[in-house]
Amino acid sequence: MAASIVKRVSRVKKLNVSHISARYKLLTGSRHFSTSKQWNKALVLGVYENESTDSIDFTGTARKFDEKADGKISQLLLTVKKPLKCGKTRTLHAVDPEFSSVLVTCIGKRGEGYDELETVDKGRESIRAAVAKAVLQLRELGENEIEVDSCGDTEASAEGCHLALFSYDDLKAEKSRKPAVRISCATRYSQDKNCMEEEWRKGAILAEGQNLSRRLMEMPANLLTPTKFAEIVKEQLADKCEVLVRDKDWAESMKMGSFLSVARGSVEPPVFLEIEYKGRQSDSPLALVGKGVTFDTGGISIKPSQGMDAMRGDMGGAACVAGSLLSVSKLQLPVHVKAFIPLCENMPSGSATKPGDVVTAMNGKTIQVDNTDAEGRLILADALCYSEQFNPSLILDMATLTGAIDVALGAGAAGVFTNSDDMWNKLQKASVRSGDRVWRMPLFNHYTKKITECQLADLNNIGGSRSGGACTAAAFLKEFVNNKNWLHLDIAGVMSNSGDVAYLGKGMSGRPTRTVIEFINLMSKETKN
Ligand code: BES
Ligand code: ZN
Ligand code: ZN
Repeated sequence: MAASIVKRVSRVKKLNVSHISARYKLLTGSRHFSTSKQWNKALVLGVYENESTDSIDFTGTARKFDEKADGKISQLLLTVKKPLKCGKTRTLHAVDPEFSSVLVTCIGKRGEGYDELETVDKGRESIRAAVAKAVLQLRELGENEIEVDSCGDTEASAEGCHLALFSYDDLKAEKSRKPAVRISCATRYSQDKNCMEEEWRKGAILAEGQNLSRRLMEMPANLLTPTKFAEIVKEQLADKCEVLVRDKDWAESMKMGSFLSVARGSVEPPVFLEIEYKGRQSDSPLALVGKGVTFDTGGISIKPSQGMDAMRGDMGGAACVAGSLLSVSKLQLPVHVKAFIPLCENMPSGSATKPGDVVTAMNGKTIQVDNTDAEGRLILADALCYSEQFNPSLILDMATLTGAIDVALGAGAAGVFTNSDDMWNKLQKASVRSGDRVWRMPLFNHYTKKITECQLADLNNIGGSRSGGACTAAAFLKEFVNNKNWLHLDIAGVMSNSGDVAYLGKGMSGRPTRTVIEFINLMSKETKN
């Protein structure tokens, strides 16, 4: 790599949002606990689904609590004849002097695990959903310190709680915000407290990464400009990673004509972020690439106005990269990761790219931009080319790229296009653990032909017809990758949650951050990375 060209540019322009920042806690969203606060303690206990009307199938932890309470918990539960079903809860009061509420939540059948058709670990998913429901109900009751049963999988339990309690209300008045809640793992009867605490911490960190992605995605585009995104990433990651903030001049010097053709319609300057986490010495890092369109109007090929507000989340790929790096670095995984994030707005204006314009990408390929709304692939083209300069052992890109992937898979799974069966197997394995699923899609030449048939240039940025839109988009990206281990994740369908995932509230989802973290964790076990 030509080190002379890659000089460190970290001039982050100060945004004029200080008046807002002063009033609201824009960045961290973390709650501050006052020492004078009165703590209302509650306990969450798990039970397995059980047909019997005269016995309760408690988790190990729950059984110990029941014994300590002289069987009061089981007695109270058995006063109701109908056994608890998976996902249902019962709240008990005055059971234990230490806790104002004891909430019993059903975590499904004992011994549930991998479900092949669902390609998910059902046991872990049920725990996440059950504890999520429990802590939300207790927060509604005004409880603010909650001890939670590990339910036999401490990490999943921690994930469920921490994901469920997330809410983006930084911009609301204090009284309308969700109250702060302290959660911890009920370890007191555990044989190995330290091990349990460590697992809990891991789950909490996984959730923290996804919650950072969610916060970034949810932030309105007038506040989260490319410059502000870079500022937040620096604030969140700078102590563990090297964060380079490149400006427009740098992108010009790198001949990123494709990326710059999208940015040129906006008054907001583009930013290209380069982040490095070095958890081990290696010459072949894992490369992560994320689409960072902080707002996508469609440009001159403007989108319909209905629902356009959701396009503040069009930096979901970038957000998931940032969230993943936060967790990977906090977990101190022994892996070398380099991340590349092109950030800009896609706006219509007198200086915007026009349909039919031809631009040149970093690798010299010319592109006829027939639709300015297919901008994600244009910014990724240059980012992918640039990432190849660092001899990566794999390249994983994530992008809210096409409405077509939403039509194909909905919120059921992220679409994955990859040239490597090995990478696919590892990513799928990671997603079984995380519960945040992936589904493989084709990279046939059939789709490549659609974008190489072009009147004026080497490539057209659209496929000509709407059919197979996610596949033609992936075929376009393929033209900018030589790496034998490339994965492209189209995450437009999983961008937001409208109730499909029980432990994520409504709004921007931050998916598939935890799958990517698990994948990096798997890769870190391979010596070459
Ligand atoms: N950002 C959109 C894709 C998108 C759609 C993300 C829905 C999240 C939810 C992307 O830039 C886009 O507009 N794609 C076009 C491509 C088309 C013009 C070939 C699309 O999918 O319609
Ligand atoms: Zn678009
Ligand atoms: Zn877009």
